[in-house]
Amino acid sequence: MTRKIIIDTDPGQDDAVAILLALASPEEIEVMGITAVAGNVPLALTQKNARIVCELAGRRDIRVFAGCDKPLAHTLVTAEHVHGKTGLDGIALPEPTMPLQDTHAVEFLIETLRQEPSGTVTLCPLGPLTNIATAFRTAPDIIPRVQEIVLMGGAYFEVGNITPAAEFNIYVDPEAAEIVFKSGVPLTVMPLDVTHKVLTTRPRIEAIRDLGTDVGHAVAQWTDFFERFDMEKYGHDGAPLHDPCVIAYLIRPGLFSGRHVNVEIETMSPLTRGMTVADWWGVTDRPRNAMFMGEVDAQGFYDLLTGRLARL
Ligand code: BDR
Ligand code: CA
Repeated sequence: MTRKIIIDTDPGQDDAVAILLALASPEEIEVMGITAVAGNVPLALTQKNARIVCELAGRRDIRVFAGCDKPLAHTLVTAEHVHGKTGLDGIALPEPTMPLQDTHAVEFLIETLRQEPSGTVTLCPLGPLTNIATAFRTAPDIIPRVQEIVLMGGAYFEVGNITPAAEFNIYVDPEAAEIVFKSGVPLTVMPLDVTHKVLTTRPRIEAIRDLGTDVGHAVAQWTDFFERFDMEKYGHDGAPLHDPCVIAYLIRPGLFSGRHVNVEIETMSPLTRGMTVADWWGVTDRPRNAMFMGEVDAQGFYDLLTGRLARL
C-alpha cells in the first residue's frame, strides 16, 4: 500500500538523495509535500534547494513550503563546512522555476493532518525538528492524528558528529526534538549508529554515476563533494549517506533492525546539549518512545537506492 508522507528537510546533499529516492518510489510512497526548515544552510537556501531537487527529478508538481528560519530557543547553527556554501555544492544546477507555495510549512502540516483521515500521514524529518515541534505546539490536536514519524537524528554508540555528544539535527534544535520525542507519536529513529554504516564507497558511487542519467551524475557529484570532509574526519572508505535511510526504511523496513527503547533529549547541559540519551540496555523504567535503529544491510540499501534512482 502507498504511504502518504510529508518530507521535512534542510537540503543538504543527503537530503536531496532522500527526496529523489522518495520521488522514484511511487508504489510505496506518495509525497504530499516537502516542508523546508533551516539547518544545514539557512531557510532561503533549503527551500530553494528542495525545488532544485524536485526539478532535477522532473517533478515540478510537488508542493514545497518554507517553514521556520530559526530554532525554537537558540540561534541557528549551520553546516556549510560539510555541505558547502549552497548546501548542494558539488554540481551547479539551474535555479528553480517552480514556485514556492505561499502557505507556511507549519500551516501546511497542520491543515494536512486535520484534513486527512487520522493515522494516514507519516512525517519524515531529515533536519532539525523545528517545523514539526512548532506544528505540535500550535495545534496539539494533530499529534494523535500522525501515523508515525520516521526521522534521521541522534546517536547512541556513535555519540555525536557536530559536538562530541550530539548529532547535528538534534543539536540544532534540542527543544524541538524534546517536544517531538515526548509527543507520544510512534517514532522510528535512524541515528548515526545506522547511517555511519551506509558508506559511499567507490564501487557504490560509480554504480550510481554509471546510470548515465542527470540524476545519477548529480548524486555522484554531490557525494564526491561531501565525502571528502567525512572521510578525513572518520578515516572510513566513504562517507555516511544519512537521510536516505529514512526513505529506504519506508520502502524496505527489513533492511534495518533496532530496539524499542526510551530516548530522552538533553537540553540543559552546555557540554552535552542535543544528546539523545537512549536506554539501549533497558536500565531504567522510563517509557519506551522510539524504535531506535542500530543495524542496516548496507549493500541492500545501495542496491535499492541505485535501482530506484535509475528510474528518474
Ligand atoms: C544530519 O545532519 C545533516 O548534515 C545531514 O543532512 C543529516 O540530516 C546528519 O547528522
Ligand atoms: Ca538533513
